[in-house]
Amino acid sequence: MVRGKFHKGERVLAIDKRKWFKISGYEPHSGQLLLHNSKARFKVVVAGRRWGKSLLAAKEAEVMVLMPNTRGWIVSKTYDLGEKVFREIYKTLIHKFKFETVRKSYSPKSGSMYLEFPWGSVVEVKSAEHPDSLVGEGLDWLVFDECASCKGIIWEQYLRPTLSDKNGWALFITTPRGYNWLYDLWKRGNSPDYPEWESFHFPSWSNPHLHSDDIEEAKRSLSKEAFEQEYGAEFTFLSGQVYSDFDPSVHVIPDDKLNIDPEWRRFRSIDFGYENPFVCLYIAVDPEDRVIIYDEYYQRHRTVEQHAERLIEEEKKTRLMMQSALGKNVKDVYEWTTCDPSAASARATLMEKGIVTITSRSSIEQGLELVRQQLKVRADGKPGLLVSSRCVNTIREFNLYSYPESKWTEEPEKENDHAMDSLRYFLTQWRKGYISQKIAVWA
Ligand SMILES: Nc1ncnc2c1ncn2[C@@H]1O[C@H](COP(=O)(O)OP(=O)(O)OP(=O)(O)O)[C@@H](O)[C@H]1O
Ligand SMILES: [Mg+2]
Repeated sequence: MVRGKFHKGERVLAIDKRKWFKISGYEPHSGQLLLHNSKARFKVVVAGRRWGKSLLAAKEAEVMVLMPNTRGWIVSKTYDLGEKVFREIYKTLIHKFKFETVRKSYSPKSGSMYLEFPWGSVVEVKSAEHPDSLVGEGLDWLVFDECASCKGIIWEQYLRPTLSDKNGWALFITTPRGYNWLYDLWKRGNSPDYPEWESFHFPSWSNPHLHSDDIEEAKRSLSKEAFEQEYGAEFTFLSGQVYSDFDPSVHVIPDDKLNIDPEWRRFRSIDFGYENPFVCLYIAVDPEDRVIIYDEYYQRHRTVEQHAERLIEEEKKTRLMMQSALGKNVKDVYEWTTCDPSAASARATLMEKGIVTITSRSSIEQGLELVRQQLKVRADGKPGLLVSSRCVNTIREFNLYSYPESKWTEEPEKENDHAMDSLRYFLTQWRKGYISQKIAVWA
């Protein structure tokens, strides 16, 4: 069954894919079958989570590995992600069929994952985080898993040249990440100008092996945008209002109706600015983990020292109010204060004034999703996030915070983003469960 043929300098696929799939116990579902039947040299598969991308890629790779003297890579953002395809190949060729190897390694931690067979074929996992490792001999095939999460330069500068010598093929398999470089490649597959390219698009629910309960659960727990991207495999993320679920009639609460219990946890979250405003959001969290932005400080053209003084004044007032309501001494008004993790010198200035900040990094995209999830209306009919009507700037930003028209970036426009950034920092920190009682004011 395994035969390598050369014809006019090109390798001709001589292994019977269907037979191999049958022998190895793989029955592709209808979407996967379309792909396995495609003759395109470059295939771009944009599919939802759990659709069967990695399995399909592993099967395409196995067919190549079984042919003599082929060399192929599985590339992904990290070694852990690349391991998913490698694991399937390893399971089939090593565990199930017990093929002998000349060299083998399976260590996702060290990034060493490869198999070399006596018939001269090699498969290796590579990480786009280590571009230096993406040079080497010419490749016959390449699987680029979750490629939309990697930078386009990885394909253009590092991977594409490795396919030239042997006229190798590439399979791009990914959930979409907005209108980025992968979207351009995906469009190629639908254009007559690129005959070697073919594109595919499948939502998760076209995998018949996936339970509809899983899909329903994802729909409930993710924001509309995230669900459409992750499960609908839509390039939908980057248009218009970033928080399109924000509805003042749902999320804004009149200040005179807002009752923040003195027992509730309180936090501050800061975004620094001089020409742009310096923002401090005052946030309370109720016992049902509902996040309430009960006040905002939004001020331009002052020094960090001046802002710090205002924050300390506000804290003193709140402490007095809490002490009189609770009838006891209150040491820490705020459980913690968070801010922009990159603003080291402004943080140091706050610290000199006695305001300690804690931070944790995460991607903008992850932060946006946290806010979107929080905006969702819960089973009790109330949203997970409320804003007091006195926070006029925060409400304005919620309405105006947008993606740029051009759509060539995954990030929102850098305007109307100051309170929005503060909120993102808060939710990132809060979700990390970082709790410290020692971080209020030392003054
Ligand atoms: N043809 C098939 N036959 C049986 N099970 C399948 C088939 N295709 C996919 N599956 C199952 O569906 C699940 C998802 O498959 P896989 O991990 O390949 O999907 P994926 O799209 O790469 O997922 P992720 O988005 O998590 O990376 C797995 O449990 C896999 O075994
Ligand atoms: Mg996968």
